[in-house]
Amino acid sequence: MPLKKNLAWKKILIGVALASAPFVPPATAAQITVGFSQIGSESGWRAAETTVSKSEATKRSVNLKIADAQQKQENQIKAIRSFVAQGVDAIFLAPVVSSGWEAVLKEAKQAKIPVILLDRDIDPSGKDLYLTAVTSDSVHEGEVAGDWLAKAVGDKACNIVELQGTVGASVATNRKKGFDTAIAKHANLKVVRSQTGDFTRAKGKEVMESFIKAEGGGKSICAVYAHNDDMMVGAIQAMKEAGLKPGKDILTVSIDAVPDIFKAIVAGEANATVELTPNMAGPALDALIAYKDKGTEPPKWIQTESKLYTATDDPQKAYDSKKGLGY
Ligand code: AHR
Repeated sequence: MPLKKNLAWKKILIGVALASAPFVPPATAAQITVGFSQIGSESGWRAAETTVSKSEATKRSVNLKIADAQQKQENQIKAIRSFVAQGVDAIFLAPVVSSGWEAVLKEAKQAKIPVILLDRDIDPSGKDLYLTAVTSDSVHEGEVAGDWLAKAVGDKACNIVELQGTVGASVATNRKKGFDTAIAKHANLKVVRSQTGDFTRAKGKEVMESFIKAEGGGKSICAVYAHNDDMMVGAIQAMKEAGLKPGKDILTVSIDAVPDIFKAIVAGEANATVELTPNMAGPALDALIAYKDKGTEPPKWIQTESKLYTATDDPQKAYDSKKGLGY
């Protein structure tokens, strides 16, 4: 074959080979290994956060090792110690509760392993033990929920029941605080019962059943505020089984914006949710890579957005856009 023709064929063959080769991401972060101490899988939001974390790590060629703590702080502490022993490049921690981290985070610091908090905070005394925290403003989330309810209720007297998140979790403390502050401006709104449902659907249902019993079959309840959507989905089930009409007789407002709450909004059985993005790992990985590559100190708090959704925000579209994200 003449030399010119031969070269042309070579070019074509190389082109075909490149087009069919798997995408190889840039090499910068290829060596980074991150250990992620995840809380567990208590809610749809948590499951989505785990799924999204894996895909965000893959996008950046980061080797992400996830340890599922099954809701127990002692398991998280063990996982962090094991990550330190393995010599990982960084540790991501979603702290189940806010206190009790000092000793183990000091160990990570001594080993010069940066720690990044995801979605929950630790007590302010531990501020110098982590590099940055990627979280929403959970006090604000509670305020948004309270403000929405005050507006929806107007001047009518309204007895509210509250399903709290895990006791001792920063997000549970803050979402309560924010909501209480918002409704304190309205004398007609009152929280009459408040109990933990541990962020799970099953407990949300169980606690709501007890609230309905204690409140004369639920007739005196005007609204339910739940610190997450999963508990609200359980509470909606309890209300329906008791012959009540959630979303109509009893207003609902919760946090997370999981697909199932949009399904309930479409069905007229829920009223409002405040979105919490499941993508905490993306911003955390970007901050970590910039820190490792260029020594760029991230801000102490990388705040994610909190957006309110109601029936007027095309809940079907929101459902469709979220249903494939691992919730
Ligand atoms: O820390 C975030 C909270 O944890 C989510 O709102 C809740 O669903 C999860 O369990």
